[in-house]
Amino acid sequence: MIQVKNLEVVYPNGTRALAPTSLSFGAGEFTVFLGASGAGKSTLLRALNGLVQPTRGNVQVDGIGELSGGKNIRTHRRRTGMVFQQHQLIGRCSVLTNVLMGRLGYHASLRTVFPFPAGEKQIALDAIERVGLIDYALRRADQLSGGQQQRVGIARALVQKPTLILADEPVASLDPASADRVLGLLHRICKDDGIAAIVSLHQLEFAKRYADRIVALAHGQLVFDGPPANLGKREIDRIYGTTPADVDKIPDEDFTSRTGTYA
Ligand SMILES: Nc1ncnc2c1ncn2[C@@H]1O[C@H](COP(=O)(O)OP(=O)(O)OP(=O)(O)O)[C@@H](O)[C@H]1O
Ligand SMILES: [Mg+2]
Repeated sequence: MIQVKNLEVVYPNGTRALAPTSLSFGAGEFTVFLGASGAGKSTLLRALNGLVQPTRGNVQVDGIGELSGGKNIRTHRRRTGMVFQQHQLIGRCSVLTNVLMGRLGYHASLRTVFPFPAGEKQIALDAIERVGLIDYALRRADQLSGGQQQRVGIARALVQKPTLILADEPVASLDPASADRVLGLLHRICKDDGIAAIVSLHQLEFAKRYADRIVALAHGQLVFDGPPANLGKREIDRIYGTTPADVDKIPDEDFTSRTGTYA
């Protein structure tokens, strides 16, 4: 559904965040980006939504074509939900209002949705119910826990009726149990609705648990692309340059069953 062709990103200050990279993402696929800090994960994710302009190469979206020019980018963003690490909600607004914001792409101007019609509210309430927060719908967003706020972020992405969700470290600020619940929820919803997801993470354990496919970068280079079962100690060393602390949480059988492929 989305193809990255020979995509290179060099920032104006000369930093080459992404070496020419080609990848293709399928409909309904749950992909996790791994890589050390500064590896280029956010750069690649942002390029998939036209937030970062490539220096070379391009991004092709099925049914839209090349991701360049305001019109193509707007059409793509309307069907692409974004979930950010934090600071994504308007704190003084209710959960319901925040989720309704996700519908704005469907309307020509704010004036056409204020006050929000009943049909719009029902779509938002359905999404809030799916993320388990119906009792909090009228609560101010800043009165929710971090995990609950991330679930509101997922609901806001869902009301866009997306075919793709891009999530940049969506659980980075959460404790491990909340992080697992939020990721589990995102994974279940994407699978139920056939939504493709591309999620950057720092936790190998979660990548192993939820990813259909892991794509890893090191210093802007693609160093791994394959199913979690193929990600062994050798690959992990190559991604991080060293073995990260949570490698011990991965069951040993995951290391013995691998075939060891590098992209
Ligand atoms: N706007 C920018 N201008 C210049 N350099 C940038 C910019 N954004 C990122 N970089 C640089 O590009 C490289 C890749 O950064 P990026 O944010 O994509 O990494 P990341 O893998 O998302 O890291 P993290 O895990 O810390 O979020 C880094 O060297 C970073 O300093
Ligand atoms: Mg990042």
